[in-house]
Amino acid sequence: MNIEPKLYDQTNYSQRNDSKLIIEQLKKDYGQNKVELLIDVGCGSGNITQDIAQSINCDRILGIDLSDKMIEYAERTYSNDKIHFTVADACDKWDKISKSIDVVEGQADIVTSIYCLHWVSNQKRAMDNIYRMLKPGGKCYILIFSWSHLLPVQEQITFHPRWADFFKHLESDKIKVQKIDGIELREREKSSAPFSVFECPSEQERCEQWSKICRSANLEPISVKIHDSVFYYDNVDSFKGELKALCHYLPLIPENKRDQFMDDYFEHMDKHFISIQGHLPRVRIEHQVLIAISRKKE
Ligand SMILES: C[S@@+](CC[C@H](N)C(=O)[O-])C[C@H]1O[C@@H](n2cnc3c(N)ncnc32)[C@H](O)[C@@H]1O
Repeated sequence: MNIEPKLYDQTNYSQRNDSKLIIEQLKKDYGQNKVELLIDVGCGSGNITQDIAQSINCDRILGIDLSDKMIEYAERTYSNDKIHFTVADACDKWDKISKSIDVVEGQADIVTSIYCLHWVSNQKRAMDNIYRMLKPGGKCYILIFSWSHLLPVQEQITFHPRWADFFKHLESDKIKVQKIDGIELREREKSSAPFSVFECPSEQERCEQWSKICRSANLEPISVKIHDSVFYYDNVDSFKGELKALCHYLPLIPENKRDQFMDDYFEHMDKHFISIQGHLPRVRIEHQVLIAISRKKE
C-alpha cells in the first residue's frame, strides 16, 4: 500500500464509521476502568487512533504503522501527552518491533487493529506479535475488510486495453465472464488485491478462518463475526477521494502515467458504478467487515 496520509485522513469516512463498532465494544468492555497501554496496529493517519483514545480511560496510546509518511502525519496531527505514533512493521521479528516501539513483552492491556490486517503478507507473524504485546488477560480487537460489492467492478480496470499490460503477471488461461446487473465482469483466478475479489467464502468459513488464525497465535477467540455495513458518501467527489486514497492498483503503474490511470479509473467507475446508482448525488457502498475479538489467557 502506498497511501497519501492527508488524502486518507480526509476521506476515510467509511473506515471511521465502521470503527465505531470497535469503539462501542471497547466502551462496553472497559467503561471508565483505567487502562495502562493500548496499541493500535496499522494506525494509518491516526484519526481513528484518536477516536479510540477519546473513548476509554487510557494512560498511554501507541499507534504503529509500516509507513513512515503515515506516522509522520499522525505524530504531527494527533499526538499529545497520551498518544504517540511510531513506525513499525507488524510482521517483523518481535525483537525488532519491541525495540522500535519501546514496548516489552506483555505490556499492553488492549491491541486494536482496524482495516489493516487484510493487507499484511504474514498474518500469522502479525498475530504472534500482537500476542506478545498483550498482558495475560489482555484483549485484541481486530476489524478487517471482508467484502464489497464494488470489488469485481473496480477490478475491471485491470483488463482495460491501456492498462492490461501492467497486470499481465496476474494473467492465466482461465478468464471467466459473467454479467451482473447488465455489466460484463471478467474474472481471473488471481486479482490485484491481497484478498478475494471474485469469490467470497461463506460468512461461516470467513469467521472460522479467523478463529483459527487467533487460536494459532494462542489467542482465545471471544467473538468472531461478519457485520454488514452500508455507507453513503455525500457526493461523488468524496467517494472518488477514497477511491484514490485506497487505490491498490497505483503501485503497479509507473509514476508518470498515474494521473492518466486515475482519469481512466474514475471514468470506468462512473460508467459502471456511480452513474447507474439511483441515489445520486450520494453514492451508496455496501460492504462487510469481520470483527474478531480475542483474549490472551491469564
Ligand atoms: C487502510 S489503512 C487503515 C488505517 C487506519 N487504521 C484506519 O482505519 O483509518 C491500512 C494501514 O495499515 C498499514 N499497514 C499495512 N501493513 C502493515 C504492517 N505490516 N505493519 C504495520 N502497518 C501496516 C498501512 O501502512 C496503512 O496505513
